[in-house]
Amino acid sequence: MPASPQTAPPAFADATDRLTDRIGDTPLLRLPHVAAHLPGGVTLYGKAEHLNPGGSVKDRPARAMVRAGRRSGAFAEGQTLVDATSGNTGIAYAMLGAAMDFPVRLFVPENATPERLATLRAYGADLVLTDPMDGTDGARRQARALAEAEPERFFYPDQYNNPANAQAHYDTTAPELIEQTNGQLTDFVAGLGTTGTFVGTARRLREAIPAARCHTLQPGGPLHALEGLKHLPTAETPGIYDAELADTHRTCPTEAAHVMTRRLARAEGLLVGASAGANVAAALEVAEERADAGQEACVVTVLCDTGTRYLNEDFWGES
Ligand SMILES: Cc1ncc(COP(=O)(O)O)c(C=O)c1O
Repeated sequence: MPASPQTAPPAFADATDRLTDRIGDTPLLRLPHVAAHLPGGVTLYGKAEHLNPGGSVKDRPARAMVRAGRRSGAFAEGQTLVDATSGNTGIAYAMLGAAMDFPVRLFVPENATPERLATLRAYGADLVLTDPMDGTDGARRQARALAEAEPERFFYPDQYNNPANAQAHYDTTAPELIEQTNGQLTDFVAGLGTTGTFVGTARRLREAIPAARCHTLQPGGPLHALEGLKHLPTAETPGIYDAELADTHRTCPTEAAHVMTRRLARAEGLLVGASAGANVAAALEVAEERADAGQEACVVTVLCDTGTRYLNEDFWGES
């Protein structure tokens, strides 16, 4: 006898049994070994965004941009989502496309790590590889050109200029941090890529905790190996960026980020990517400044993605 169509979820289903509802609400982890030399009143925390279902912080904005597109009608049923991404947002779109039944086409620089490309293909995304010399900006130009040529076929979320990107962090990341620190957060540090994480989180934190200080982080120069991060002076500034939200702007050389990424794995048991290492290195600098000034502090940063995406990189073997 053919099964009858399911009309109601089974009795054991709860409100969070859908993949799309398991994005966010990530743990806030203390980093006791990395911060061991700091006085007791200064604590360092990482928001464990690598534990999102897609393995990165970008699950949050990807879901928000898809939902906003559906709500506004910009992303109609039957349309294909097209975008350019160095990886994590693409992985999030590919995952959501599978879970929410929409096709995904991604323009990705050919030098994205093989693990990332394989992951995108595993989720069933359609990939267009672009010239690595053109970087993510080049991939973005091509995605935009396709969406403009055939607007009836494609939805282009344009994460660099889509307010829903930062809004995702305003609506979810920041309230979680406020609750997880009982409002005691003194400093927030985030690296800049599309800038959504920093802008959305800092905007809400500034409203809720006016004394909190917010710090941006960028690679030290245009040639760096910190995937996901941008050296803004030599890149197109994202439309959603708001530099006014920052109290300080910091840089982190690739080497220092790699040293911290290894330390996070070996001293804290946290297998995360190099942008997380850069974030923690900068957050530690902020915490040390607080300690030097004799102040108490609760410094929070973001562990952006899982280190399993970078296992073939040489820096794991360096001492
Ligand atoms: C690994 C990684 N770190 C950091 C970032 C930066 O986050 P945002 O785009 O919110 O600035 C990204 C963005 O793609 C990323 O993939």
